[in-house]
Amino acid sequence: MNIQLRGIHKHFGKVHANNDIHLKFEEGQIVGILGENGAGKSTLMKILSGFQSASSGDILVDGNLITYRGPLDMIAHGVGMLQQDPLDVGAFTVLENFMYGANYQTVLNRRQALQDLHKYTARFGFDLDPLRSISSLSIAQRQQLEIVRLLALGVKTLILDEPTTGISGEQKAILFNTLKYLANEEGMIVLFVSHKLEDVVELCHRVAVLREGRVIGERAMPVTTHELVQMMFGDVLKPQTRAQLDLTKSPSVITMTDVTLTDKRLEMPNINLALRAGEVIGFAGLDGSGQSLVLRGLVGLERIQDGHVHVNGRDLTNNPYKAHLQAGVTFCAAGRVEEGLVAGLSLTEHFALFAMSDPFIDWSSAQTQMNHKIEHYKIRGKSHDLIEALSGGNQQRVLMALLPQQPIALVLENPTRGLDVDSARWIWQQLLTRRDTGAGIVFSSPDLDELVAYSDRIIVFYAGKMVEVPNVRQTNVEELGRMIGGQFESYEVA
Ligand SMILES: Nc1ncnc2c1ncn2[C@@H]1O[C@H](COP(=O)(O)OP(=O)(O)OP(=O)(O)O)[C@@H](O)[C@H]1O
Ligand SMILES: [Mg+2]
Repeated sequence: MNIQLRGIHKHFGKVHANNDIHLKFEEGQIVGILGENGAGKSTLMKILSGFQSASSGDILVDGNLITYRGPLDMIAHGVGMLQQDPLDVGAFTVLENFMYGANYQTVLNRRQALQDLHKYTARFGFDLDPLRSISSLSIAQRQQLEIVRLLALGVKTLILDEPTTGISGEQKAILFNTLKYLANEEGMIVLFVSHKLEDVVELCHRVAVLREGRVIGERAMPVTTHELVQMMFGDVLKPQTRAQLDLTKSPSVITMTDVTLTDKRLEMPNINLALRAGEVIGFAGLDGSGQSLVLRGLVGLERIQDGHVHVNGRDLTNNPYKAHLQAGVTFCAAGRVEEGLVAGLSLTEHFALFAMSDPFIDWSSAQTQMNHKIEHYKIRGKSHDLIEALSGGNQQRVLMALLPQQPIALVLENPTRGLDVDSARWIWQQLLTRRDTGAGIVFSSPDLDELVAYSDRIIVFYAGKMVEVPNVRQTNVEELGRMIGGQFESYEVA
């Protein structure tokens, strides 16, 4: 199979999200689709997979012009896309979801479906129990299910939009082996949208770089990450470094004393943690190792079973988040639209809701202030746009824009999720400005480089245990990676 995009345009009002895109994808190739936040990558992939229609332009499959009305038509033409937020079919089991939409309509076919599912999962090393309900699956498992479902539907081109966000290194290795197999052995086309340039270097045969809706370059790999960055941005901000400060003398802004936290899977007793003014603490660990429990415990979003949480010396144990917020502590969840932002509200409405303290909203002032933020934070979007109309990275910028200017502490889950390198550095500049005025920052991240670059202290979470990295100034990504995998017998538990 080959696919040709000819003169694809997409307009959203005044935004020209795709501007005369010409690209050709050949059998057996894994192509990286790169570009800064808002460049038009997701839009192009949604057009190619039938989730959106182009304003104009043609798609040719094997040289034939095709017409289509939706994703099912594109699947029939052999093109399938992994949705970042897979369809909400929570009540179904893995097997039912696998059968959904495929040629297994009758009950008699259930056995066949089970066999087919098993064949795929065995071949790829996927971890999918046919009888588990979808709602209990991890992000990686949902992704695996979506891949086998599309394969069973006969797809020959697979599109993945930021698929390595939120999955572990081990799960990523399984995913990459699968994609390599599909391209190299089965001749499939894989289109891989990612901000993780190391992933692109590892996986892709070719890259296409988008900027402001246009294709600005195509290259055959190997290309170094450094060159990729130059193609994407020209020049890049350097990560910030800081003078060595003695933080042991700064006062604590949030403390946890002998705290016990539990959720369905983890029991975390005896947590003692102090975040100091002007300090950045990084939480490392695979998803679900306890980081988010502690982050939420710090801000009143998880029940403290035992022990105390103090903010600036005041006991706020089991006070609601609102009390923490009033005390100057802001939390920012990783979920973007799912949690931190509200679908259906415009940017101005977000500003009024989250950043204005006055209960009587002056809408024209809210709009003026939001416009100011849009400019300052270089958000690609207008104040009246609904949040869901923004690209993933621009949604993250909105979240950052809504943070208070002078917090005493910021508690952040994966603050640069989905951001390109340049935007991520810029977000950190914003955070470090607040740190320099005395805010304490505690954040979690799956990105080891980010943890090493910005943390004054790093705490590794492993199955609910917390271990502080010794000599954080000397640590590196390799050491951190080993600890995240559970190899820290000789270290002190924090
Ligand atoms: N449904 C929509 N309505 C209005 N504008 C939209 C819509 N979807 C995307 N846009 C705009 O089109 C442009 C391209 O967005 P797109 O989501 O394709 O970017 P992206 O390259 O995927 O960025 P990111 O890396 O941040 O995910 C952005 O300016 C975005 O605000
Ligand atoms: Mg996108």
